[in-house]
Amino acid sequence: MEIRRLPEPCLRDKPLECQPLKFRVAGAHYLPSPNELPADSFFSVIARRRSRREFGRLSEEALSDLLWYCSKIHEMDRSRLGPVWQHRGTPSGGGCHPIDVVILQPNDGGITCELYDPIAHALNTLVLPTGVSCESLRETIAEILDPQGGSVLLFVANFAKTLTRYEGGESLVWRDAGCLLATVSLAAEALSLNCCALGFNGDSLVTRLFGIGTLAGVGGCIVGSHPEKSTNG
Ligand SMILES: Cc1cc2nc3c(=O)[nH]c(=O)nc-3n(C[C@H](O)[C@H](O)[C@H](O)COP(=O)(O)O)c2cc1C
Repeated sequence: MEIRRLPEPCLRDKPLECQPLKFRVAGAHYLPSPNELPADSFFSVIARRRSRREFGRLSEEALSDLLWYCSKIHEMDRSRLGPVWQHRGTPSGGGCHPIDVVILQPNDGGITCELYDPIAHALNTLVLPTGVSCESLRETIAEILDPQGGSVLLFVANFAKTLTRYEGGESLVWRDAGCLLATVSLAAEALSLNCCALGFNGDSLVTRLFGIGTLAGVGGCIVGSHPEKSTNG
């Protein structure tokens, strides 16, 4: 069997310029900050964690808490072009944090597709390209694992963020995806939510959403409430 080895990352003497991407969004919906830390002990959360495949609707507070602990930027250094080093609950090679989270979830009888803004702690409604619907994206995900009433977190990596700092830095991005998945899985457990990873890269979804460029799918997961605890369907 032949394995495809990824190159060894090498820090560039001088970073290349990384132009920030402009996503097409229509309006921001600001999320609340968490009220209080869950009382659970860290080690009991690790001992309890399982992949759970039944997904009821997530409340806005639950999704907000999850994104706050896993993806919110808590510290950063900026350059003229945007953040160059960030600290979040999840570690990232060089503090580049190249992964954005797109959330597909049921809402008011339909499906919404939103992009998490980790600075404002807000959800931005994505403007989808002509011919692409939220329903068709969710159907593709259901071929891997049925999201039922839950929320799909699709991890979208902008490889340029890491590769402009590290030559051959592709493996850093993939390792970042693993870090994010582990953090989301553990944070979901601590918040008494059900979570299961998705085995695909999700590249076909990312291409449908954003076209081809330096963006690529690097997996994701489904998160939901325990169905018996779900209050709104
Ligand atoms: C990268 C990755 C991809 C996975 N993909 C899927 C998947 O597509 N469908 C699924 O039902 N479970 C998926 N899982 C969950 C694994 O099946 C699960 O972690 C494993 O069976 C061990 O069970 P546990 O998580 O309860 O310890 C995935 C897990 C990881 C880490």
